[in-house]
Amino acid sequence: MKELPLSEVYRLIEPGPVVLLTTRARGRANVMTMSWHTMVEFTPPTIACVVSSGDFSFAALRDTKECVIAIPAVGLAEKVVKAGNCSGRDRDKFATIWLTPLPAEHVAAPLVTECFANLECRVVDTRLVNKYNLFVLEVVKAWVDPGPAKAEDHPPYWKGSIRGGRRDHPFRVANALRSAG
Ligand SMILES: Cc1cc2nc3c(=O)[nH]c(=O)nc-3n(C[C@H](O)[C@H](O)[C@H](O)COP(=O)(O)O)c2cc1C
Repeated sequence: MKELPLSEVYRLIEPGPVVLLTTRARGRANVMTMSWHTMVEFTPPTIACVVSSGDFSFAALRDTKECVIAIPAVGLAEKVVKAGNCSGRDRDKFATIWLTPLPAEHVAAPLVTECFANLECRVVDTRLVNKYNLFVLEVVKAWVDPGPAKAEDHPPYWKGSIRGGRRDHPFRVANALRSAG
């Protein structure tokens, strides 16, 4: 066995899939990439997620208590990496990354048209936000694209090529995409 730096532990534990999280605060929609999330209850579907207080999305989620979790397929990998490496603080990411917002039914945050599933969520527990930036979300509406899906598009299949790390992702994903042909 070889020692693993403690700073690398999260790569072994981090659950998939890599998703997009959208918010809308003061009329402004934003989207960020997220992989620190997990199911915590079946009924109602409840998800815990960590959104760093350094992210522009943090205040939007804390203040509006609403978001959408959008599930991308592998074809969106490059856009997903971009959304995780720039901030909505200084740009309209939907416009610059070429993602299409779609009105949701129960929350102000938009769905992402290009994603094959979208989950409208409300924050139901903020007790661990101050300590861990951890929000507990209840899914209040779920949408899936009725079009045909290929097994290799499914996030668990491709998360290995995108998970872990932050700023170095464009290179990792570009390599993964290249080797996948
Ligand atoms: C693959 C990947 C996964 C990420 N997962 C998370 C996460 O779970 N939580 C988080 O706070 N930031 C995560 N990030 C970083 C944010 O997406 C990034 O800081 C983004 O620029 C925040 O955007 P915003 O400032 O517009 O909110 C991830 C980035 C990448 C590339």
